[in-house]
Amino acid sequence: MSEVISTALEENRTFTPPTTHAASIPNMDAYHALCKRFADDFDSTWRDLANEHLEWRKPFTRTLNRENAPFFRWFEDGSLNLSENCLDRHVRAGLGERTAILWEGEAGEVRKISYAALLADVCRAANSMRQLGVEAGDRVVIYMPMIPEAAIAMLACTRIGAVHSVVFGAFSPQALRDRIEDAGAKLVVTADGGSRRGSIYPLKSNVDLALSEGCRSITHVLVVAHAGNKTETIAGRDIDWHQALRVQASTCEPLAVESEQPLFILYTSGSTGKPKGILHSTAGYLLWARLTMLWSFDFKPQQDVFWCTADIGWITGHTYTLYGPLCCGGTTLMYEGVPTYPDAGRVWKICEAHKVSILYTAPTAIRALKKAGDAWPEKYDLSSLRVLGTVGEPINPEAWIWYHQVIGKQRCPIVDTWWQTETGGHMIAPLPFATPTKPGSATFPLPGIDIAVVDKHGKTIRDGGGLLVIKQPWPSMLRGIWNDNQRYIDTYWRTFNNRYYFAGDGARIDREGYCWIMGRVDDVLNVSGHRLGTMEIESALASHTSVAEAAVVGRPDEIKGEAICAFVVLKRADSENLTLPLRAHVTQAIGAIAKPDDIHFVESLPKTRSGKIMRRLLRDIAAGREITQDISTLEDQAVIRQLQKQP
Ligand code: WT7
Repeated sequence: MSEVISTALEENRTFTPPTTHAASIPNMDAYHALCKRFADDFDSTWRDLANEHLEWRKPFTRTLNRENAPFFRWFEDGSLNLSENCLDRHVRAGLGERTAILWEGEAGEVRKISYAALLADVCRAANSMRQLGVEAGDRVVIYMPMIPEAAIAMLACTRIGAVHSVVFGAFSPQALRDRIEDAGAKLVVTADGGSRRGSIYPLKSNVDLALSEGCRSITHVLVVAHAGNKTETIAGRDIDWHQALRVQASTCEPLAVESEQPLFILYTSGSTGKPKGILHSTAGYLLWARLTMLWSFDFKPQQDVFWCTADIGWITGHTYTLYGPLCCGGTTLMYEGVPTYPDAGRVWKICEAHKVSILYTAPTAIRALKKAGDAWPEKYDLSSLRVLGTVGEPINPEAWIWYHQVIGKQRCPIVDTWWQTETGGHMIAPLPFATPTKPGSATFPLPGIDIAVVDKHGKTIRDGGGLLVIKQPWPSMLRGIWNDNQRYIDTYWRTFNNRYYFAGDGARIDREGYCWIMGRVDDVLNVSGHRLGTMEIESALASHTSVAEAAVVGRPDEIKGEAICAFVVLKRADSENLTLPLRAHVTQAIGAIAKPDDIHFVESLPKTRSGKIMRRLLRDIAAGREITQDISTLEDQAVIRQLQKQP
């Protein structure tokens, strides 16, 4: 853990929310009352919510088992099926004709899939997976563009109790292979390609490359023909999705699984080299996906069109493009393509065309759209919007104000939601029709969530910077790291002696109790809302034959939040410029999202006498700031002079 950023955001403007009596949580009194219910009786409040909001096959009798903490178990003796909660129950309630997924492709094509049709497709896919030998507990890797089939494949896994692991389509074959191997997946579901900025990016051929070495656990690859991209078919292994589904029955009995049945693994970056497989389980995750839809977005399934712009390859796409809206029985919009394609009006055009009422996106997108100019949103009718969400990184007040004024016309509350892959759903967020907001603050913890800002000994800090912790378990918390219990304890629990969950973020709680997230305190970067481990990029660089050593740090970037800045020591002073080859090398190892923005070639890296790279010093140099770190422990003082000469 490195130092906590102590620069306090000074932003005191407060925005009172519009009121609506029909909101899920309509005012601060209702919020405080719900918080008090949790404080007075934590377990039975969760019990009541779980009974009210989920449909159980076998009711649970035990709400929370803390015996083997930090391996908490929620609702453990109950059973249910996730796809039944997201599909069958709405069809049974007479909502079969309501649009579940509203899809728009980059070229403008539109598909509307009703709950009844989605259920039938999910059943066909589930039957097909079963026929390919997938059983409950088996892992299925999904490597797909943002198309309805990605959602169908995920839901099909849940129907038969299989565990999905979605790998974001921009990850390289090598990164895909690492994830398939770590998960020990049996099946890969992919597509021939996806659309991006008017061209097609390969998926199936990346799968072929990934499977060309290792990946012995894979028996089949299901391939969705989507982009008209010709790919090789390996007989006996590759199966055409549409052909396979066509012959299957449109019904499939949902398998009742225990609450704690693993639901999915999602790989994310940590501060050490290897990405970790964050494991989520069924009931608790789904409960929180649903509650946060209702609480933080005031989602009204009968009227709202909800658009979360995140790709299904990230947790935001899991919880808020898919499971949250569907568990509530509402309409979720899925867009396959780039938000600024063919022009910077695309997002607003989609909002107008489909009457989007809740928009949920990342600060990086807001900043990019703001930069494109107000003329773009002004061309479109945005009057359907009623709630605007943001997630992924701290939002700067200027971007917040723009979102509020230019997009929301001061009508729409801004919900800045703080959470993580590990938390499964929102932890800190305003209630749109109750909480007075301050630009840049995620405001207060949601009811049931017990957070604090503490010093490194775990002592609560009031009105100052410290480390963000969660003091009580919550239903959608990660259940572990796939295949690595020790790392789960070491990463999240050891810092505070198994008492608190340590999030890895610095934060400050101001005098009025507002929470201000100040960013990661570990070696994790947040680039355009994507989480990347510096060590992962460093090992990718170091695997190049010419590189002796590399250090990667973040540098502030106006649009992306952070840019990737690498300091590289070569094995021998090369006359050849290695910037491009090294960027290509990282793209190959991880994916284009991890490509360094700047590469500085240096003679050596600044290290302490004990051999630790002085990252804060590198961050200052990367940002062109004055050096704030005490450099008296620097082994070789000459390094500084050389580094400062860097452009
Ligand atoms: C990290 C988690 C969970 C959604 C997408 C990212 C940062 C997330 C906010 C916010 C400030 C935020 C934190 C967190 N973060 N939301 N509203 N304000 N920072 O998920 O990839 O697991 O990254 O994103 O640093 O730890 P993730």
